[in-house]
Amino acid sequence: MRMTLRFALPLLLILGGITWAASPLMANLVDRWFRGDVESHAQLLFDSLKDSLTGDLTEDQIATLISRINGDKHLLALGLCTPEGQLTRRSAGWPPPLGCPATPPDRGRAFTKGRLKSGPILTSAFALPSQGPTSGYLVFVHDLRFIDDRSRWAEAYTVGLFALLATVAVAVAVLITRLTMRGWVKAVREGLANTADARLPPSPEIASLVGDVQKMLRDGEGQREPSEMIRVDWTADSLKHLLKTELPDAEVIVVSNREPYIHNDVDGEIRIQRPASGLVTALEPITRACGGIWIAHGSGSADRRSVDEKDHVAVPPDAPSYVLRRIWLTDEEVEGYYFGLANEGLWPLCHIAFIRPAFRAADWQHYVAVNRKFADAIVAEAKSPNPLVLVQDYHFALVPKMVRESLPDATIITFWHIPWPNPEMFSICPWREEILSGLLSSSILGFHTQFHCINFLDSVDRFLECHIDREHSTVTTGASTTLIRPYPISIEWPAAALAGQPDIAGCRKAVYAKFNLSEDIRLAIGVERFDYTKGIPDRFRAVESLLENHPEWIGRFCLLQIAAPSRAQLAAYQAVQVEAQDVARAINDRFGRDGWQPIILIARHHDAAEICTLFRAADLCVVTSLHDGMNLVAKEFVAARDDDDGVLILSTFAGASRELLEALIVNPYDIRGMGEAIHQGLSMSSDQRRDRMRLMREMVAEYNIYFWAGRMLMDAARIRKRQGIEKPLDNGEPI
Ligand code: G6P
Repeated sequence: MRMTLRFALPLLLILGGITWAASPLMANLVDRWFRGDVESHAQLLFDSLKDSLTGDLTEDQIATLISRINGDKHLLALGLCTPEGQLTRRSAGWPPPLGCPATPPDRGRAFTKGRLKSGPILTSAFALPSQGPTSGYLVFVHDLRFIDDRSRWAEAYTVGLFALLATVAVAVAVLITRLTMRGWVKAVREGLANTADARLPPSPEIASLVGDVQKMLRDGEGQREPSEMIRVDWTADSLKHLLKTELPDAEVIVVSNREPYIHNDVDGEIRIQRPASGLVTALEPITRACGGIWIAHGSGSADRRSVDEKDHVAVPPDAPSYVLRRIWLTDEEVEGYYFGLANEGLWPLCHIAFIRPAFRAADWQHYVAVNRKFADAIVAEAKSPNPLVLVQDYHFALVPKMVRESLPDATIITFWHIPWPNPEMFSICPWREEILSGLLSSSILGFHTQFHCINFLDSVDRFLECHIDREHSTVTTGASTTLIRPYPISIEWPAAALAGQPDIAGCRKAVYAKFNLSEDIRLAIGVERFDYTKGIPDRFRAVESLLENHPEWIGRFCLLQIAAPSRAQLAAYQAVQVEAQDVARAINDRFGRDGWQPIILIARHHDAAEICTLFRAADLCVVTSLHDGMNLVAKEFVAARDDDDGVLILSTFAGASRELLEALIVNPYDIRGMGEAIHQGLSMSSDQRRDRMRLMREMVAEYNIYFWAGRMLMDAARIRKRQGIEKPLDNGEPI
């Protein structure tokens, strides 16, 4: 309709203007045209009479003339004038006020237009033939009212014709436009759909448009929805405020496998360890802000000694703000549920790292049993019928359904911290339907990226009977609806680890001294768990490529790799450690000299403050995961650089690459490309480094962990309010 109006209005205006200008012209033309006819008619009449006329007309002649013109309905009267202009004779219809034409006829005739009360007239005067001097003039008086009538008709026809023309023109224009648009939209759609297939490039006419649309979509992936553009400075306080105002009385229960504080027995003393886990890094500040209870596996050697009779311990130890509830698992359960199903099955299933997932029925039994154990603990800890349960990660795909059975009014937000595979990959899991329907008991299911949401929806589409609303990104199974949304996870801002850090020069000095690095060496840092998804051996090979192709860095560059031991009893993890150590040794043997080594590999756990100091000392941070849901190391490096310096090299297969667009983005399978990126990072001007780092810092500061949680909680609040509205009243009527 809007498109029709857009075309119709200008066309109608143009045609209306033409009509307005043309209709008086038309009337004038018609007037002149018919007057010419009357004049010719008068001349013909006179010519047919003139032979029978002499200078002095007798009464009989006049009577004959009058009878001859009586049949002419446009002739009013005739009269005779003397050469001096005296009206001597006139017929009965002669208008009383009319005299003879004042001017003698030119070349024997004259036409004069006039107007009487009854309407317009024309007088035509003709000189009478005579043997001597002119004996006078014969004058005809013509009635011109019919011309007026015809002019009006002509005007009306002109307007009508133009109106018809305008209608037809608008209809044709709209039809052609619609057909053209439909053709374009179809061609662009096909062009976009075919882009994945290089054999079907878009046609040349739309190739550039398709390219533009793709670029916009790519750019848009790292951006936010309009509602999120409204800038709020997200802090622990704003999150608390949100909870208080939007989710009053909501009881917060966080559930994860890894606990935020591990009590270990070290030589008879209890030491508290913070685990190397992106999940814990992100969730801990949130739980500190929201309060409530965090349920997790008690895995530390002194964990049992540190809890009360309810298995509770208040944390953080120095300023408690929430309760940690520990769940005890047997060795068999840990073996089957954690190492087996979760880390040998689901972890490789969801990460494209070309490690074959292992699915064993016994592991699945443990996974179900442990999920039940955690679900029972949630239900037991809940003091209200509708707590806000925040279920974390791939360890607990069945927990949402198990909790929902006992607490139907709970608001369950599940966050999947790792990628979600495409349906083909996912289909190899023998318990795919159970996993999907377990997750779909959540009120909200979050992933880091839109891409993973789409993979999840496609998997649901393939394997479950349900209704998928792709516009609103919801899945409805039976009476329950789950919102599937991307919530890119982030870190605390400002980073707590920054407190008490020396300035950049101080950090650099300390780190260089500790690792015995000479001052002219440029330092790159890598920090992760020793996991095959992190691409550590490939990163080392990239260092080799750098030194091969840019020998100027030999003796002047060092990669310090921190790798926290992780899941070390699994074969794939042992293999990657061995491989990384072998590759590092070979490269150091090949290039090392005079006490300098290009790679320093330290396989031990470091705490957040130590890592922050390393980040501040480094020129580059290298994050080259083969596949990663988000990767918070990249964001932690950015947060540590309050001097706006430092270069981030980031894998395109880490979710963080969708947000940290100013990093040097690399393909971790392209060793030479990664080596070149390290060279580029080392050669970058300080202005460039600053410009890039500033933009990345703005991004992480704004979209910090409070923003992440805030968005989920706002969505949860909306769901709770809607449920409140839909709840029946006591009399059974919905409100
Ligand atoms: C990933 C997972 C987390 C996990 C972390 C450390 O980030 O998404 O759930 O806690 O790795 O692994 P771990 O097995 O030691 O807890």
